[in-house]
Amino acid sequence: MKSFIIASLALLLIGVIALGSGAYNIAATEKHWLITEKIIEWVRISSIKSRAKNLQAPSLNDKNLLLAGAEHYASMCTECHSAPGHELTELSQGLYPQAPIFYKQEPTTDAEEKVESIKTYFWVIKNGLKMTAMPAWGHSHDDETIWAMAIFVDKLKGMTTEQYDKLTGSDNTHDHNHSHSHE
Ligand code: HEC
Repeated sequence: MKSFIIASLALLLIGVIALGSGAYNIAATEKHWLITEKIIEWVRISSIKSRAKNLQAPSLNDKNLLLAGAEHYASMCTECHSAPGHELTELSQGLYPQAPIFYKQEPTTDAEEKVESIKTYFWVIKNGLKMTAMPAWGHSHDDETIWAMAIFVDKLKGMTTEQYDKLTGSDNTHDHNHSHSHE
């Protein structure tokens, strides 16, 4: 028992000296070991799930909410998360961990799974993620706007450029623009 304690303390001391000496490379260009990456992922998913599970999502079929989400996404999120028809930005290419590219993901078909993932998106958008580039938008946006963005993020999965341009209003053939030009 005594030798075990001495060995543990010696290991701890070696660890502290090694970390303090600068041996650990904190560069974003230096990837984590696979095991470290798996542990971070497990901690992140467990943490978000337990905090998101009791949230109450609003109706997912509210068109105005979706349009509000699209508008906010287009102005605040594409720099890191890209969008259909957009090139990857220089900023996004330098991120570690990388920001997920939602429109390239498979759409969720299971209704219950969809609600659960939208709840986790709401939590992440509101609170941000430590030690990543993902900001907390809850300081500057109310819950309704954050739900709108969470719903839009889910909707983005598998979205085409035409659908994206239409929803974000960057499509010039949109009826909305025509009616405005007569005013
Ligand atoms: C400066 C870069 C940056 C900006 C701007 C940004 N994000 Fe992120 N976001 C990230 C990164 C990086 C991650 C991944 C973090 C990780 O892997 O742990 C992330 C993760 C997420 C996730 C979690 C995805 C998942 O599958 O768990 C959501 C949802 C999200 N972002 C939504 C948004 C929305 C909505 C906006 C705009 C309001 C936004 N982000 C703006 C960098 C950014």
